[in-house]
Amino acid sequence: MKLLKFLLISLLAVTLYSCEYQIIEPEEVVIEIPEEGLSFETDILPIITSTSCTACHKSSNALDLTTADVYNEISTGVTSGKYGPADLPYLNLTSPDQSPLYTLPLGNDGHVKLYSATDAATLLAWIEDGAKNN
Ligand code: HEC
Repeated sequence: MKLLKFLLISLLAVTLYSCEYQIIEPEEVVIEIPEEGLSFETDILPIITSTSCTACHKSSNALDLTTADVYNEISTGVTSGKYGPADLPYLNLTSPDQSPLYTLPLGNDGHVKLYSATDAATLLAWIEDGAKNN
């Protein structure tokens, strides 16, 4: 009986430990980048114009992701929001992982967290590759 108790406690400890371990371990994803690079049109546009963005980002918002020219909106952008092209462009080509288009929907600065690990990795790879309109 004592042995069983010990086993149960050990098992519980291992379970708790493994739960904790999962939380600490950052999620790692591997994305496949085609030889010609990621495409704004096919890889990026679907992520940032999904209904999970356009529910809020429509013409009434500083960032309108329902517009016909989304690339223009996120690259030359707007100046009315907290983030604008002059001081804080949505796309930061010098420090891609500081781009508000990347950081905010990861749950930073009070923004709702929406990107999956794959979405985030794809977007970052595209910005690192120069955020081309292709
Ligand atoms: C629940 C509503 C909501 C959803 C959904 C949402 N956002 Fe936002 N987002 C906001 C608000 C509010 C702000 C800050 C105020 C503003 O710009 O109007 C903001 C700001 C931003 C900004 C900075 C804009 C600026 O000029 O201040 C970016 C970039 C952004 N969101 C990207 C996205 C992307 C990409 C998605 C989809 C993955 C998304 N958001 C989904 C509400 C939302």
